[in-house]
Amino acid sequence: MGKVVFNMTMSLDGFVAGPNDGPENGLGDGGDGLFTWYFSGDTEVLMSEGVPPLKVSKESAEILKEAISNIGAGVWGRRTFDIAHAWGGNPPGSPAFIVTHHVPQEWVKEGSPFIFVTDGVESAIRQAKKAAGDKDVVICTANILQQALKAGLVDEIHVDVAPILIGGGVSLFDHLGTGPINLECIRTIQAPNVTHLGFRVVK
Ligand SMILES: NC(=O)c1ccc[n+]([C@@H]2O[C@H](COP(=O)([O-])OP(=O)(O)OC[C@H]3O[C@@H](n4cnc5c(N)ncnc54)[C@H](OP(=O)(O)O)[C@@H]3O)[C@@H](O)[C@H]2O)c1
Repeated sequence: MGKVVFNMTMSLDGFVAGPNDGPENGLGDGGDGLFTWYFSGDTEVLMSEGVPPLKVSKESAEILKEAISNIGAGVWGRRTFDIAHAWGGNPPGSPAFIVTHHVPQEWVKEGSPFIFVTDGVESAIRQAKKAAGDKDVVICTANILQQALKAGLVDEIHVDVAPILIGGGVSLFDHLGTGPINLECIRTIQAPNVTHLGFRVVK
């Protein structure tokens, strides 16, 4: 059985998007700098078919390629699905389980990479683990991470820390409302425009 792994880019002050994020303002006001490291290197990394490759440093490319090769399924919340315009049908982790209260019928069709889950995060992760088999399930939204952490379903937290203070927006560790969750640091890698941190959740 693979792991349930979270991975997102976060500002040093803890935000994964600035204020006023939306389909026309993907990373919110002032949030674009979060992804500088994705486009400022000279090594190409293909996240998914049909989208232009990222251009990252050699150090970051190694980390991304390893993570991509381990992905067996992904879990996202509906806001990211909408903001990313459904990744044009090429999610960066497939099959892609989208947790939502309202299923977008246009994506319910033969060959769709999306499975819409309306009975909660635990159900989405359970289904994603089954689909992923020996590979990992990746979670890439703040809201879903918080619910999954509360339910004790996350094995590793990987945060790519961007050297920027955004000052507001979507906070990664808002609404946890639990007691302390102990972590063991398993990786610290400094690369141009980003610091890659990895933690194992102590259970
Ligand atoms: N920094 C990075 O690496 C990075 C990467 C990609 C995206 N982003 C940005 O990060 C932000 C992530 O947003 P977010 O974490 O606030 O939202 P999110 O997790 O993408 O979506 C939250 C939504 O999912 C649905 N949902 C969540 N839990 C549910 C449940 N238990 N049952 C049914 N539906 C549920 C609800 O939508 P409905 O009620 O409408 O169904 C909820 O409003 C976005 O701005 C995105 O663009 C950042």
